[in-house]
Amino acid sequence: MPPNPFRALLIGSSGTIGSAFLALLQNDPNCASVTGIHRHSEIPIDYEDLSSIELAAQVLSTHAPFHLIINTIGILHSEEWMPEKRLQDLNAEQLSKLMQINAIGPALTLKYFAGLLDPESSTMAILSAKVGSITDNRLGGWYSYRASKAALNMLIKTTAIEFARTKPNTVLVAMHPGTVNSHLSKPFRGEQIGRPALDAAGDMLSVINSLNKEDSGTFITYSGERLPW
Ligand SMILES: NC(=O)c1ccc[n+]([C@@H]2O[C@H](COP(=O)([O-])OP(=O)(O)OC[C@H]3O[C@@H](n4cnc5c(N)ncnc54)[C@H](OP(=O)(O)O)[C@@H]3O)[C@@H](O)[C@H]2O)c1
Repeated sequence: MPPNPFRALLIGSSGTIGSAFLALLQNDPNCASVTGIHRHSEIPIDYEDLSSIELAAQVLSTHAPFHLIINTIGILHSEEWMPEKRLQDLNAEQLSKLMQINAIGPALTLKYFAGLLDPESSTMAILSAKVGSITDNRLGGWYSYRASKAALNMLIKTTAIEFARTKPNTVLVAMHPGTVNSHLSKPFRGEQIGRPALDAAGDMLSVINSLNKEDSGTFITYSGERLPW
């Protein structure tokens, strides 16, 4: 998976990892076409305006079916706030914003974009984060980001169970890209400890190419390692 040649859709193609995926897919001879969408693209998708998701899916239905859909949209911090270091930093505005952008937006994207996937053979990969693993949470902190990615993971797992019945030839996974040098990781020494986005995206595409039906509903890293939920 995906088949050869394949058609791809990149959601969040303006981002650091999203634009790296786009560049790699544009240069992949097996990729017959790749469409990239983001907040300011011709077909806009903005998780601050949830109605844009269904509209984008409607417009894209003329370009369907897609064999590969990758969603890279996500936030960790904003100009107003940084990830919480302790419980006393927790606030409703930050928690609800991260839930909206990292969990509700991707879940509604799953709902409305599921019909754009090729029922014969397709893969949908959604970028999550290892810190969204409840089992792996050793350090604490980052309450809203962790909770939003854990919620995203549950929404992906639940959808994958339904897809096994309704779309048995579709693979759906949550992916951890590793620490990548990007806008998102910049305040956390991303430039020093993060890998180049092209390396991470290339590794993730290799993992995606090796997925099979049994991998659907798993949480998997850029190196193919399965993470605990
Ligand atoms: N970088 C890392 O080390 C790391 C580690 C673990 C997981 N991740 C995950 O990987 C994904 C990509 O991260 P990145 O490092 O590439 O970050 P990035 O460069 O900040 O890209 C984030 C993407 O999300 C989009 N976005 C933000 N708010 C949005 C909204 N309201 N509506 C629609 N799109 C919105 C951005 O669009 P604009 O260009 O319009 O702002 C951009 O395309 C995220 O889901 C992140 O949680 C990253």
